[in-house]
Amino acid sequence: MTDPILSVNDLHVSFPSEAGVVDAVRGVSFDLYPGRTLGIVGESGSGKSVTSLAIIGLLADSAKVTGSVTFDGTELLGLSDQQMTRHRGNDIAMIFQDPLSSLTPRVLGG
Ligand SMILES: Nc1ncnc2c1ncn2[C@@H]1O[C@H](COP(=O)(O)OP(=O)(O)OP(=O)(O)O)[C@@H](O)[C@H]1O
Ligand SMILES: [Mg+2]
Repeated sequence: MTDPILSVNDLHVSFPSEAGVVDAVRGVSFDLYPGRTLGIVGESGSGKSVTSLAIIGLLADSAKVTGSVTFDGTELLGLSDQQMTRHRGNDIAMIFQDPLSSLTPRVLGG
């Protein structure tokens, strides 16, 4: 069987705040297989963006991230920014909310 290209295991993300710790992601796990599409659905504030930002290593340093994120067998959590830069844009990319401002109209228009 094909190995997953991306594996997220027991991902937890919390943010310190004046009102206490915000547990934004509590134990998310999923596998993404090559050539497949995975949609993550949930109500606003349920942690979709924070999960994605944790995978790609773009959360603020104050965020506490635990668990495991492997891409093609390599553990991504704990990589330095410099190491992560090698993966970002080459292996993993993010299209942020409001795709009209992220993608050029020429590409969208086909
Ligand atoms: N930098 C931050 N500091 C503190 N709390 C944060 C931070 N970023 C996100 N959160 C909190 O984490 C939780 C998850 O937010 P997230 O943005 O991942 O939700 P979402 O599922 O992407 O929502 P939406 O559908 O509105 O995009 C929310 O309670 C949010 O307030
Ligand atoms: Mg979001």
